Amino acid sequence: MKLAVFDAYGTLLDVDAAARQLAFSGRFPDLAENWPALAALWRSRQLQYSWLRALTGHYISFWQITEDGLDFALDSLSLSDPALRDALLGLYRRLTPYDDALPALERARAAGYQTAILSNADSAMLADAATSAGLNAHLDVLLSVDQAGIFKPDPSVYQLVCDHFDCRADEVRFFSSNGWDIAGAGRFGFQTHWVNRAGQPIERLGLTPDQIIPSLEGAIFAV
Ligand code: LAC
Repeated sequence: MKLAVFDAYGTLLDVDAAARQLAFSGRFPDLAENWPALAALWRSRQLQYSWLRALTGHYISFWQITEDGLDFALDSLSLSDPALRDALLGLYRRLTPYDDALPALERARAAGYQTAILSNADSAMLADAATSAGLNAHLDVLLSVDQAGIFKPDPSVYQLVCDHFDCRADEVRFFSSNGWDIAGAGRFGFQTHWVNRAGQPIERLGLTPDQIIPSLEGAIFAV
C-alpha cells in the first residue's frame, strides 16, 4: 500500500502566518515587534495544553485549546484586546500553507500514493483549513482526533490511520515537522519523516526518525 500521511499545523500549514500577516498589515502597531514572541508563545501553550489535557483526560476541541493558548499568550505579553484576538483567530482558521506543501501532495498523488492529514485539530477546524489552503483536492481524507477524543501522541490517534485505510502501521509514511509527533508515530510503528523546518536538534524521546528532511521539498515518492 502506498500511503502518505501528513501532520497539519507546522507541517503543511504555517502556524506563524496569522501573527505575521496581522503584524505586516499595520492594523495593530503593538504587533510590529512582538509578533514573533506572540506566535511562539501561542503555539507552545497550544501544544502544552493539548498534552496536559490528554494526560488528565480532559478533552476539549483543538479550536478551544487554540483560543486558550492565544489568551494566555496575549495576557503574558500585555496585548489583550478583543479586536486583536478576533483578527488573529480569524486568520488562524485559514492559515496559509507552506510553499512546499501543495507540490509534495501533488508528487505523492502522481506517484500513486493515497494521501491524508492526521491532525489534532477538530474536524470543522481541519476542513476550514484544508479548504482555504487549497489542499482538499489533493487529499483522500482528513483524519481528526475528534474520533479518538484525545490528542497526539496518544497511540489511539495514530491507530485512526490504520482503521481508516485497513493497513498495518509499518505501511504508513508519516510526515511531521513536530519532533514529538514523529517520536509518537515512530513508536506506533509508522515510517517517519521529520520535516525539520526550524533546524532544531533531535528530540530526546527515545526514538530516531527514519528520515530527516529540511522541508517537504525533500519528500521523495517513488512511482
Ligand atoms: C497537528 C498539530 C500537532 O496538526 O500540529 O496535529
